Amino acid sequence: MNGLSGTAAALGDVVVVGGGAAGLMTALVAGRRGLRVSVLEHGPEVGRKILISGGGRCNFTNTDMRAECFLSSNRHFVKSAISRYRPEHFLAMLGRHGIAWHEKKLGQLFCDRSAADIVQMLLDECRAAHVRILTGVRVTGVSKADHFTVQTTAGALHARSLVLASGGLSIPKLGASGFAYDVARQFGLPVITPEPALVPLVFGQEEDAWLRTLAGVSLPVRAACGKTAFEEALLFTHRGLSGPALLQISSFWREGQPLSLDLVPGQDMGAALARLKKSGVRTQAPATLGRWVPQRLAQALSARYVPEKLHGRPLAEWADKDVAALARHISHMGLTPTGTEGFAKAEVTRGGVDTRALSSRTMEATSVPGLYVVGEAVDVTGWLGGYNFHWAWASGHAAGEAV
Ligand code: FDA
Repeated sequence: MNGLSGTAAALGDVVVVGGGAAGLMTALVAGRRGLRVSVLEHGPEVGRKILISGGGRCNFTNTDMRAECFLSSNRHFVKSAISRYRPEHFLAMLGRHGIAWHEKKLGQLFCDRSAADIVQMLLDECRAAHVRILTGVRVTGVSKADHFTVQTTAGALHARSLVLASGGLSIPKLGASGFAYDVARQFGLPVITPEPALVPLVFGQEEDAWLRTLAGVSLPVRAACGKTAFEEALLFTHRGLSGPALLQISSFWREGQPLSLDLVPGQDMGAALARLKKSGVRTQAPATLGRWVPQRLAQALSARYVPEKLHGRPLAEWADKDVAALARHISHMGLTPTGTEGFAKAEVTRGGVDTRALSSRTMEATSVPGLYVVGEAVDVTGWLGGYNFHWAWASGHAAGEAV
């Protein structure tokens, strides 16, 4: 629906800005309670990120739901919402709508058919709860006296509660905006600098030239940054590094920090190469490393890390220290990114409205009664694997029950 009806100026209960996962969940929960709820979405349709997520099948939650799987300046903040709204609650809603799902790996749950099923389910739930959804409407200003007034390109709305559900800055071409941050600041709430997360990382000229030659190569690795590490697939691309392990670690990476990649996770490469040398193996480095990593990578690693004096010589003829040095490069490959591919390629935004200004039980701003912030707009970032949608559902549910 486009534009406001003649009753728009009447005092409603709740205005939700943003028709994404968190906004729709907030709206349907509040609507079920009999509240008069309007959702304002500036894009042409709601739920656009849901539609493109998880390769079109939406990784909508994860069975391993723990506070440790979220980044935030306050790591306890998510506990209340995720303990009250669990994966099984979302599964129960899918069940009521006959939506089939499956686990792919690591507790990650996807739709069998299409992410569009999730959007349709949320729309059906909103319709049943008499939620009014307005698309293609731009908010031009927000003010508060005894209630909130939201000025829009289609007229003004008045409501007791205002829910900021406009997400973060990732993927501007899908409608991302800094709206929630601007309104939060307007009402005196602090905002932690938003930055791209779950994002491919890029490298300086010298490393970039080397990495580009490997574009398309993928392998399981252990990617570490400081004390945090993830074991998953790594993908070399034309621009740098991506793949689940790299995306995960990108959320923890800060400028200037090195990454350490173990290209043979779970293996003691030093011992394995030493054993091979002892056995008198006649293969040279590329063929030797090719036992563990894809051949193109084995070639590139040999060219980069094997000293010239050993080129063309079988491992059996190497000094022990040279074998150990090669093993170290393979198990602790050090790379220092120069940056990320930015918000255009980031799956999510790290940072956002500071959790210290919000109630973890209701998502309401403690200093501004009636103002709520949910979903990605909040300084809560989930791991890859369904955690970000779960945060959208759980925070939306918490706010929907409280507004
Ligand atoms: P979301 O961004 O979804 O919604 C905000 C809405 O507000 C948008 O519709 C936007 O147009 C609207 N809006 C913005 N500014 C506005 C304004 N000024 N006025 C009105 N409306 C405004 N997560 C996961 O758990 N599993 C997955 O499989 C994936 N996959 C995935 C793939 C890709 C390519 C991306 C980019 C992201 C994912 N994610 C994901 C992350 C997930 O999509 C994200 O965390 C949630 O969509 C966040 O939900 P929100 O509702 O908070 O924001």
